[in-house]
Amino acid sequence: MLIQGRRQRTIWLGEDGRSVQAFDQTKFPHEVEILTLRDVGDAARAIADMQVRGAPLIGATAAYGVAIAMREDTSDAGLDAAVKRLAATRPTAVNLRWALDRMAERLRDVGQSRREEIAFREAEAIADEDVAICRAIGDAGLALIRNIMLAGREGDPVNILTHCNAGWLATIDWGTATAPIYRAQEEGIPVHVWVDETRPRNQGASLTAFELLQQGIDHTVIVDNAGGHLMQHGLVDICIVGTDRTTRTGDVCNKIGTYLKALAAHDNGVPFYVALPSTTIDWTISDGVREVPIEQRSPDEVTRMTGRTGDGRIETVAITPDGSPAANYAFDVTPARLVTGLITERGVCGANEEELAALFPDLAG
Ligand code: MRU
Repeated sequence: MLIQGRRQRTIWLGEDGRSVQAFDQTKFPHEVEILTLRDVGDAARAIADMQVRGAPLIGATAAYGVAIAMREDTSDAGLDAAVKRLAATRPTAVNLRWALDRMAERLRDVGQSRREEIAFREAEAIADEDVAICRAIGDAGLALIRNIMLAGREGDPVNILTHCNAGWLATIDWGTATAPIYRAQEEGIPVHVWVDETRPRNQGASLTAFELLQQGIDHTVIVDNAGGHLMQHGLVDICIVGTDRTTRTGDVCNKIGTYLKALAAHDNGVPFYVALPSTTIDWTISDGVREVPIEQRSPDEVTRMTGRTGDGRIETVAITPDGSPAANYAFDVTPARLVTGLITERGVCGANEEELAALFPDLAG
């Protein structure tokens, strides 16, 4: 996708062939800054501090983190230590575990002298596959948007509400929730996106708005609580969100506030779709509310906000009284019964065990 008019991925091999580079997403939308990952500690910090974030990108960064670690220490102990360190960065997105398991499995039976080369190749493959998967999600979701357009008034845009950033910045390219939107744009279907700001870290306001603007997609940023009102007034045709972990039964864990959007959509008869690569399905669990580990982050993210002042400085300010405690639950779970359908790289299916297993018989086990 485009940044400042140039086609880019979110993570790539550095020109020195030894480091890995990515956009520092804590700097968007006001600055475009590139981050260089030189050792496994850099990769772990980038994930934990959310300089890179979004389930598929977290997985790819962890894979590159293992590859970088193989530069320093190709022993089994070195591999185990890198995997352990990266696995401890963030608990909710299952792509992290998926990518680390894949890297460890690939490298375990390989002689130490070849581990570095093979690790980089495998990390590249994970990134390339994610691009193809997201593009396929776009094709599958495009049909839903096209059907809404065909049923609507000619010339009216299809109004899509999304939460957080399940855009190309959360993946390697295309995004998950945004892929059908970008495909619709390619097909000349008029779309308009309602962008939930997504407190506390404002991934909607800072990242989704940024990438839609770069891509020339019509959009409007709204406060997190506006979605229900818009749905009551017929201003949302479809919700499309991403997910960090989906159970085999179709429960969906995504950024905090997603559940409330699903409730509002259900109450107003608005279709609520979740776009996901199969790498975000956790086939080992069936009850999202009880089994998905929900990340709790620093209360500082709730009590403070960062933005640009009128004279161009980036400043962080307090927005709560000193001494008021804050809690920062980063994700919630939307039960499958509130999900109209799952948009995957193999097509759209119902959010239930039978349909997911039918689409992915090779993974369902
Ligand atoms: O905390 P974040 O910014 O990593 O959370 C990201 C999300 O919740 C996304 O919706 C999810 O990872 C899907 S990304 C295609």
